[in-house]
Amino acid sequence: MTSIEPNGRTIGSVLRRSTDYLVARGSETPRLDAERLLSKVLGLERIELYMALDRPLTSSELEVARELVVRRGAREPLQYVLGVWGFRRLTLNVDPRALIPRPETETLVERALLLLTGRDAPRVLDVGTGSGAIALAVKDEHPDARVSGFDFSPDALALASENAALTGLAVDLFRGDLFDGLPIGPWDLVVSNPPYVDASDVPNLEPEVRDWEPHEALTADGAIAAVARGAVGVLADDGGIVLEVGAGQAEAAADLLEELGFQDVRVTPDLRGVDRVVEGVRP
Ligand SMILES: C[S@@+](CC[C@H](N)C(=O)[O-])C[C@H]1O[C@@H](n2cnc3c(N)ncnc32)[C@H](O)[C@@H]1O
Repeated sequence: MTSIEPNGRTIGSVLRRSTDYLVARGSETPRLDAERLLSKVLGLERIELYMALDRPLTSSELEVARELVVRRGAREPLQYVLGVWGFRRLTLNVDPRALIPRPETETLVERALLLLTGRDAPRVLDVGTGSGAIALAVKDEHPDARVSGFDFSPDALALASENAALTGLAVDLFRGDLFDGLPIGPWDLVVSNPPYVDASDVPNLEPEVRDWEPHEALTADGAIAAVARGAVGVLADDGGIVLEVGAGQAEAAADLLEELGFQDVRVTPDLRGVDRVVEGVRP
């Protein structure tokens, strides 16, 4: 049995002190952060913490908890501190090599899966795959899809490969630059969450994003248009495109798809009601 050194700290007091510490350092979700971090340290569900508020921590548990809370207090994203994060049905490794998969990107996957409905063994290309989140979720939820993903960041590709191994999902990953054109398909679906933050907005982002996430995942002038234009030459007849865009960018992206000859152009809001996902189909 683990010996408990008398350090005077219980789950309840550590949660309280960690929350106060994170409030003072500007976290928007201090209590939740404290709960998630302590859950990780103790290997308990959050609800289990509340069933054991008087349980003392060992000195080594306390030390590890302190380290994680200090990292979060430096505004490192909770996801990077935890090292894993959920995306659709998957739990993926996340770290500063790639963007943290966002809830709004789950809407993109939902639209992609709808466009794949009824297609046998569709060929799917994920442009700027990052952690591999989109490619792996599509493969997971449409298992006969043949999914490829590329990125120009070797770090991101290394993380995506780890996630493919972790989830046991077979996707083809390779290096490439979306501004050099898209790889020859033909693809039945091109999906992408390209960098879409204006470079001038980066200084105003939350520290978690600005100081920790890779900037090449956030900004790349003209990336949305490059993916849309690149898709025209590599999509199969009747092939589709699904793009994630920034707030205020959906109308321009939809207009561009129409100009490029895509049909059934549609904009879908994310869960917060922001027009987020733009799609179309080649005639
Ligand atoms: C917004 S992140 C999306 C990551 C992942 N698909 C997701 O949704 O979580 C954009 C990705 O595009 C990649 N990227 C940026 N510029 C690129 C380029 N010129 N060619 C290929 N990939 C690029 C970045 O490395 C990053 O992984």
